[in-house]
Amino acid sequence: MASRGRLGRTPRVILALHMSGDSHKTFYLETFGCQMNVHDSEKVIGTLVNEGYRQVQTVEEAGLVLYNTCSIRDKAEQKVFNRLNDYKKYQKQGKKFGVLGCVAQQEGEKIFERAPWVSLVCGSASYRNLPQMLAQLEAGSRKPETEFQSQRAEPGSPRSDDRGLVRITGLDDRETDACFETEFTARTNPHRGYITIIEGCDKFCAYCVVPFTRGKERSRTSESVLAEARQMADLGYTEIQLLGQNVNSYKDSAGKRSFAEVLAAVGEVPGIRRVRFTTSHPRDFGRDIIHAIDAVPTLCDHVHLPVQSGSDRVLNAMQRLYTREQYLERIAWMKAAKREISITSDVIVGFPGETEEDFAQTLSLLDEVGYDAVFAFKYSPRPNTPSLALEDAIPDEEKARRLEVLMARQRQIQIARYKRYIGTICEVMVEGRNAARAQWMGRTSHNKTLNFTAPEGAAPRVGTYVPVMATISFPNSLLGELVI
Ligand code: 5AD
Ligand code: SF4
Repeated sequence: MASRGRLGRTPRVILALHMSGDSHKTFYLETFGCQMNVHDSEKVIGTLVNEGYRQVQTVEEAGLVLYNTCSIRDKAEQKVFNRLNDYKKYQKQGKKFGVLGCVAQQEGEKIFERAPWVSLVCGSASYRNLPQMLAQLEAGSRKPETEFQSQRAEPGSPRSDDRGLVRITGLDDRETDACFETEFTARTNPHRGYITIIEGCDKFCAYCVVPFTRGKERSRTSESVLAEARQMADLGYTEIQLLGQNVNSYKDSAGKRSFAEVLAAVGEVPGIRRVRFTTSHPRDFGRDIIHAIDAVPTLCDHVHLPVQSGSDRVLNAMQRLYTREQYLERIAWMKAAKREISITSDVIVGFPGETEEDFAQTLSLLDEVGYDAVFAFKYSPRPNTPSLALEDAIPDEEKARRLEVLMARQRQIQIARYKRYIGTICEVMVEGRNAARAQWMGRTSHNKTLNFTAPEGAAPRVGTYVPVMATISFPNSLLGELVI
């Protein structure tokens, strides 16, 4: 069933539902990681509110404390254990703790050993079972401890450990074929919203934990995606971002539409003014996507196409399934598009065995493409991944050095690229007001931040689209003036 943004419109609607809920059941949810996690949390919040829970803004106020976690790099993973330790003291007050998302899936029941005050461990592929799991959690809290002593740890079934602590697990791993679709998504922004079109990943890049944490690839039907887009448009949303670990692998399970066709169809929904999509894998990135951007003006002129490395040797070791040349071919398609497409990327430095020469090739690729933004990371060895067994680890100081060199090079590229906008007029979506700076915050279709000033009496409304003349450029943003 398509997500019916029932909670998605305004905070007032959310409040009304909170009030009608069972007010003693409260939860606090903190999200780590990517946009997929941010959107999963919106769906989890909606699901909990529908189950009679009320969302609160502090751990102190909450009966149930949830962390939606990220395990893409070790640092991200450590954050959740730090948080759990920080709030351990509250278990005495009867607060329940739950770990959701990628760390939950990756570590599974080991979390109960590391943090015995945790009662719920649930990976993203099991979120559709959350209502039952929450009911079990409550039942477990109420019933005498002994009732759970003899139960086995079937996925999603409650049991207790020797100390009578309730343990609930949802660890479907790569078994499930189902997507987490709910009609209760609690979108936080009333103008701009995410729609998941594909979950999981079958690519198994050598460094990446996601295929193990998010399960196998499974796509929603394009009818359900379009129904959700239409409902969002009816509720007043004007910008939609289609999400997936690898949106280009999208396969309409009803066999009706390719990814480019879904993209175009969402862009043609009346009322929708901007459509974005992330993330793309170069191997599956088809030219039909560029044709769709050419044909449908609401499709934003921005593509995030992670390259990871500019060296064929490293790309091969990473099992990325494309060469530098093939990647650059896709860049050439973008550069031949009717509108100038802004291109951004992810890069990993210090993959095992990466030589100075390999790294130099990544730097030269940055120059060749001319990215508008690059998210660069030091390689972090992850559990289960093929690259864990590779030798020739790069020392951390060397990874840090390469990261710094790369960021400095990219900064120069961006300074030059952002300068070109000075004197041009761009349409921005007004995202908010920075009172301290007396500026409005805006975003262009290229996904660039373009903040601006407006004369008194011409204050724009948040969520509207206005023309802004760029007057000053920075390496990561632009400043301008509202055109009236
Ligand atoms: N180490 C460092 N960076 C990683 N990424 C994914 N796995 C790792 C890892 N093990 C980066 C990739 C990916 C982005 C989301 O995170 O660049 O595109
Ligand atoms: Fe982190 Fe990847 Fe999981 Fe997102 S999908 S939360 S980036 S590990």
